[in-house]
Amino acid sequence: MSVANLPAQISPGDLSKAHSALEGISNCTKCHTLGEKISNNKCLDCHKALKSRISQNKGYHVSKEVKGKECASCHSDHHGLKFDMIRFDEKAFNHQLTGYTLTGAHKKIDCRECHKPSFVSNSELKKNKKTFLGLDQKCNSCHEDFHQKTLSNNCASCHNTDAFSPAANFNHDKTKFALVGKHKTVECVECHKEETRNGKNSSNLQE
Ligand code: HEC
Ligand code: HEC
Ligand code: HEC
Ligand code: HEC
Ligand code: HEC
Ligand code: HEC
Ligand code: HEC
Repeated sequence: MSVANLPAQISPGDLSKAHSALEGISNCTKCHTLGEKISNNKCLDCHKALKSRISQNKGYHVSKEVKGKECASCHSDHHGLKFDMIRFDEKAFNHQLTGYTLTGAHKKIDCRECHKPSFVSNSELKKNKKTFLGLDQKCNSCHEDFHQKTLSNNCASCHNTDAFSPAANFNHDKTKFALVGKHKTVECVECHKEETRNGKNSSNLQE
């Protein structure tokens, strides 16, 4: 039985608001294959950002909670415009399922302090205020470079998520130049200044 060409195949109900542009007989096969079945691949043909996460084996949709399941088992449809396709208790969410564990200060902040458009670089996803996709794990994708390029942008090599001060992973005595005496109280930038060489910014010691 084909969804597309049988008179009996009347939609069982209006699609959700997010899919309302897909009403009409010409669109049935955007989600259904022959025999009424929902095709995960067809869903993913539109949901490209998610598809790319899944193909990289990353994110919540490849976690043990989701992998191998039919999309429709969690995202039903045809229940009218007001139906919420995503049933999701944000507060109870186990963030480890995303492959990124919330630690230190990150455990205490609201989901939307991180999941907000200004931290999303992909311009399509940026427009979607509800999305949880599109963040990067690198510290400097959300935190401004306090040191203004005078130090490496690998913040985690010196900081953890408990607090920026003290810099938990940094010990100047492990560099080639241990700080002793008065040097201990000199601001970093006094010795480490940003210079422009051959058109490139780089952090160099003042000579
Ligand atoms: C945006 C995707 C989408 C489009 C477009 C779509 N459907 Fe569906 N349809 C679904 C999903 C998801 C289900 C499964 C619902 C469930 O299992 O809870 C479903 C289920 C059905 C069912 C089975 C209902 C049941 O009670 O078992 C029929 C029949 C159906 N759709 C017909 C259609 C027809 C006809 C069209 C075109 C007019 C259409 N659908 C368009 C997503 C879609
Ligand atoms: C023709 C393109 C298209 C197809 C096919 C499609 N979707 Fe969507 N879907 C959209 C658009 C557009 C939105 C709204 C914007 C967004 O969230 O990306 C959306 C939104 C959603 C959302 C988020 C809803 C919300 O409230 O934020 C879910 C979940 C979803 N779709 C699941 C599915 C599933 C499951 C299928 C397959 C049965 C499917 N989609 C098929 C285009 C599509
Ligand atoms: C076990 C339940 C489950 C299954 C199976 C599942 N999802 Fe989801 N989906 C969720 C939950 C929970 C969310 C909300 C968290 C999130 O956005 O990742 C979600 C979110 C989404 C979103 C919105 C993503 C965003 O944040 O912008 C889309 C689109 C979507 N799912 C599509 C799909 C498609 C397509 C499939 C099948 C390949 C699928 N889902 C399978 C539970 C599921
Ligand atoms: C400190 C910032 C931060 C906070 C707070 C945070 N998240 Fe995330 N979240 C991230 C990052 C970073 C990723 C992307 C991880 C990766 O690279 O895969 C992510 C990924 C996700 C994903 C998976 C998206 C995908 O690609 O499948 C979901 C769903 C999600 N978070 C939900 C939540 C919820 C719900 C909360 C609140 C309980 C929350 N997050 C709080 C940073 C945060
Ligand atoms: C080479 C080590 C190093 C790197 C890399 C580094 N920092 Fe720092 N950072 C420090 C040290 C040392 C301090 C001074 C800590 C103190 O006050 O005890 C500091 C201070 C800070 C402070 C001020 C803390 C306060 O309350 O005074 C912030 C914010 C900060 N760093 C953010 C960042 C960010 C964001 C990055 C990445 C873009 C970064 N740092 C990269 C070593 C580093
Ligand atoms: C997805 C965005 C995101 C990423 C990635 C991220 N953070 Fe955060 N972080 C936040 C937000 C939002 C807050 C709370 C608001 C604030 O203090 O800036 C926060 C708070 C903090 C705090 C507490 C700040 C304070 O003033 O007490 C520290 C420390 C911190 N993050 C360190 C890190 C480090 C180190 C990394 C990389 C390993 C990192 N963060 C990655 C978003 C992020
Ligand atoms: C009195 C001057 C002085 C002060 C103050 C100082 N540094 Fe240094 N720093 C040096 C010298 C000299 C070296 C050794 C350079 C080398 O390895 O070639 C060095 C090395 C480093 C390195 C290792 C660079 C590398 O390439 O391995 C880092 C990172 C660093 N300093 C960060 C900091 C931070 C962060 C602060 C502030 C908390 C700071 N320094 C304060 C002089 C100083």
